[in-house]
Amino acid sequence: MSLSNLQSRDLKHLWHPCAQMKDYETFPPMEIVSAKGSLLHTANDGPLIDIISSWWCKSLGHGHDEVQQAVRDQMEKFEHVILANTSNELIVNLCEKLISLNPGYNKVFFADSGSDGVEVAVKMSLQYQQQNGQEQRKKFMSLQNAYHGETILTLALGDCGLYSAPYAALMPEIKKILDIPYVSGKVEDLPFEDFSSLLEPLEEYADELAGIVIEPVLQGAGGMLFYHPSFIKALRDWTSARGIHLIADEILTGMGRLGKVRACEFAGVLPDFSVFSKSMTAGFTPMSCVLTTDEIYNGFYDDYETGRGFMHSNTYTGNAISAAAAVAALEFYEREQVFARVAKDSVYMHELFEDVAAETGALLNVRSCGFVVAADLDMSLAGLNKKRCGYELYKKAVRKGLLLRPLGNTVYFLPPLNIERDLLEKSADIMKELIFEELRS
Ligand SMILES: Cc1ncc(COP(=O)(O)O)c(C=O)c1O
Repeated sequence: MSLSNLQSRDLKHLWHPCAQMKDYETFPPMEIVSAKGSLLHTANDGPLIDIISSWWCKSLGHGHDEVQQAVRDQMEKFEHVILANTSNELIVNLCEKLISLNPGYNKVFFADSGSDGVEVAVKMSLQYQQQNGQEQRKKFMSLQNAYHGETILTLALGDCGLYSAPYAALMPEIKKILDIPYVSGKVEDLPFEDFSSLLEPLEEYADELAGIVIEPVLQGAGGMLFYHPSFIKALRDWTSARGIHLIADEILTGMGRLGKVRACEFAGVLPDFSVFSKSMTAGFTPMSCVLTTDEIYNGFYDDYETGRGFMHSNTYTGNAISAAAAVAALEFYEREQVFARVAKDSVYMHELFEDVAAETGALLNVRSCGFVVAADLDMSLAGLNKKRCGYELYKKAVRKGLLLRPLGNTVYFLPPLNIERDLLEKSADIMKELIFEELRS
């Protein structure tokens, strides 16, 4: 395979993420020269529709004018200043916005990546329990098929062997809740159900648990699986009654991705901690935050000598460029009522997927909520029934101008919240074409 100059230089030094690098021998990296809106422009081929929002974070597409301008303006003032013992107008604005969007919370702690944010929430939960008379509460649980990030602790909270298996020797054992009421179809249409009986097996751990960590409603990396929001209500009732924290990882689901600020709103539930990232800065820069209550905060507030402070310190916590992007993104969401538009357009995106499923007969279990729709390739069909079918589709989709990155055999759209309808239609047409070609092969 002949490589461009850039591809040769890239493969000499760059170790790409989430990859077996040998795959790059037959599928070298695409050279991106610019990106605007939902399109990535490549050096040698046509534009690519970024139907996965560049790993789920570009909620307003690429180069969003307003967010870009806010970042430029902040660059003129300062890019980063230590947040310990300093303050600035921007970071306080961001806190006020986050709190006003999330009634019930009153405190914000900033971290860098999503994984980092989940670690902060878990550390806060454990420390709170230890120093507030619940020393026996040292364990955490999470859900089967969960994904919470790539650090050792977040891999242990997760349930995706593909990412965590080689590091099992370092990972603490974190039990998984197994009976999850997964659903098909459109999540927003589901009536309330009582799932409290599903939690009975947890009773044996009730006295030792500090907290339960969940991805609310949607488990992304675990296979784009949706579960019934009423299950979160059952979890909240169960944990509240026993003094166990509920920690919601809203990194993927929050800030409009599912059409609401928090996916837990579908269940009318306020966890003890909610973690945001990705759409919070419209994917401009890495930043995450943990929102929590006065009750948790007060469990740390004391004289220095008591050692009860929360001593977590990342270099870039509260980074000003990220804060500028976040404030601009949150202002845009609010002014343009982006989340309400998501709730409406998601019906349209779901129908497009249903059409592809009906016409090809090759998609099972179409499911969606907000601006995420997914389905599984029917692997029993000749043509699809081959090794790494999803990866093969990915390579072919790119040649047709669509950055479709199946997760195993699950195909999904998770586009920028402001994508134009014609690009959604074009994406569905390309996916249909691809599937037909595979079925004929
Ligand atoms: C639900 C969830 N939690 C945590 C993370 C980790 O975030 P990051 O990659 O920024 O560390 C992700 C990333 O996709 C995610 O989807």
